[in-house]
Amino acid sequence: GTNGTAVTGAGGPGDSRMGGDENDVTLTTRQGHPESFNQNMRTVGNRGPATLENYHFLEKITHFDRERIPERVVHARGAGAHGYFEAYGKVGDEPIAKYTRAKLFQEKGKRTPVFVRFSTVTHGISSPETLRDPRGFAVKFYTEDGNWDLVGNNLKVFFIRDAIKFPDLIHAFKPDPVTNIQDTARIFDFISNTPEAMNMITYLFSPWGIPANYRQMQGSGVNTYKWVNAEGQAVLVKYHWEPKQGIKNLTQKEAEQIQAVNFNHATQDLYEAIERGDYPEWELCVQIMSDGPHPELDFDPLDDTKIWPVDQFPFLPVGKMVLNKNPEDYFAEVEQAAFGTGVLVDGLDFSDDKMLVGRTFSYSDTQRYRVGTNYLQLPINAPKKRVATNLRGGQMEYYVDRAPRQNPHVNYEPSSLGGLREAPQSGKEYTPFVEGNLVHASIDRTNDFKQAGERYRMFEDWERDDLIQNLVNGLRPCRKDIQERMIELFTKCDPDYGRRVAEGLRQQSGEGDGIGGPLGASVSSEAVRKAEQLG
Ligand code: HEM
Repeated sequence: GTNGTAVTGAGGPGDSRMGGDENDVTLTTRQGHPESFNQNMRTVGNRGPATLENYHFLEKITHFDRERIPERVVHARGAGAHGYFEAYGKVGDEPIAKYTRAKLFQEKGKRTPVFVRFSTVTHGISSPETLRDPRGFAVKFYTEDGNWDLVGNNLKVFFIRDAIKFPDLIHAFKPDPVTNIQDTARIFDFISNTPEAMNMITYLFSPWGIPANYRQMQGSGVNTYKWVNAEGQAVLVKYHWEPKQGIKNLTQKEAEQIQAVNFNHATQDLYEAIERGDYPEWELCVQIMSDGPHPELDFDPLDDTKIWPVDQFPFLPVGKMVLNKNPEDYFAEVEQAAFGTGVLVDGLDFSDDKMLVGRTFSYSDTQRYRVGTNYLQLPINAPKKRVATNLRGGQMEYYVDRAPRQNPHVNYEPSSLGGLREAPQSGKEYTPFVEGNLVHASIDRTNDFKQAGERYRMFEDWERDDLIQNLVNGLRPCRKDIQERMIELFTKCDPDYGRRVAEGLRQQSGEGDGIGGPLGASVSSEAVRKAEQLG
């Protein structure tokens, strides 16, 4: 911000208070009045009644009434930390400038401050951290060229490949709108009609669906981006974070044992590790593909339900990240942090990945609602560099972000009266050629089952056993036709996969053993009961 405050919650105009004694801990109101009566409100006699001019009481209680902002519509529960990213100056063995001109990557040893927020996806702000759910892995790089957000998950693929399906996907996973209980019968109702989800479902119901904590998990940008070099040439890239702490996942049983005694274990693990100086680290790797549709591949490079095979597209390290400082205030930093896929710096670009394009609209849209129009003026979200815009007004405008020498009367551009000027271009513009009919159509190379089958066969035995058990538990409350459709999809991935789920369901048919499904759903489904009633 313009007040020269840290990104942390502390600071603000109070720091430069005139005549302030820094050792003074006197309680004041937000108006700066010293407050001497914080135990008793003002009343007529000591037994009341209270009177309406109780300014301090009213300020305190009305502020309290507004302490919460809307929680994130997804990824509501999270934990955050500060740290830095250190560039290697190369991509694998090659000079990185060959592929991208992004400044933060160029120089070996160059450090860029970061703020990271890890999260679960489905449930509310205080929900257990042991639940089967993807984990969010969002990184804000405060670069010299402005902010770059890499908004990823722990898993490398996603359920869907078109952003228009996202609200439906989330509705299916969120609690039932009537009972407010998550219900696997609703989830598999949706998934059985969404074959592109099979790769993700195979990960999610295995132990990979419950990372042991935030330090021992991977991160991935999931969607396909581009890198642009100084000549304006682009390549496709995928980003991956590899934890130096190793990877650790939990079986359903292990997760239940932790949840019985602690539902904040991941937040606690991250906070305590950083407090004791055991700073978690990740290496950032990229996969690179030449720009284009790559018809020789059996998948589309812009399809986020697919992994780019590492034997063809190796992981190339570009730098590492260290988290070494806990937030000073959870709300000011972690809760108000706002990440988005549109937040790129020069040398990084979007691909035409339909999910990515949809996401890019969604993040800043929700943040203007969730945090407020001027959310980018908050210290956690503001870049750590000079900002000069002609954006003005809006709720909670905290300062006017104009340049020191900008004529304050000129909040428009172009102008010859001393307003802001456009920046010179930093390299050749990347200008892809686009042409085609406007259509509503899915991509050609859907290939929904092959990678899921490969994944199934690649799992270790204990992972496969846990996967089958979790799917059987989750499918039990489902209606027969949905179970059958799911078995058909599993069979298409691998015949053994389908056979084992079918067998598990046969063995357990009818007799609920009282254990909930792996997503915490009850064994019977109100949605199914209602569907039967409706005929
Ligand atoms: C959070 C939308 C797919 C990762 C969010 C939020 C929205 C959203 C509205 C809340 C943001 C906020 O309140 O600040 C979407 C849409 C998607 C999509 C429309 C698909 C079209 C994905 C995918 C990933 C992902 C594929 C993983 C690569 C995250 C993460 C957060 C998040 C990590 C939490 C960020 C934080 O910690 O504040 N998403 N999302 N999302 N999303 Fe997505």
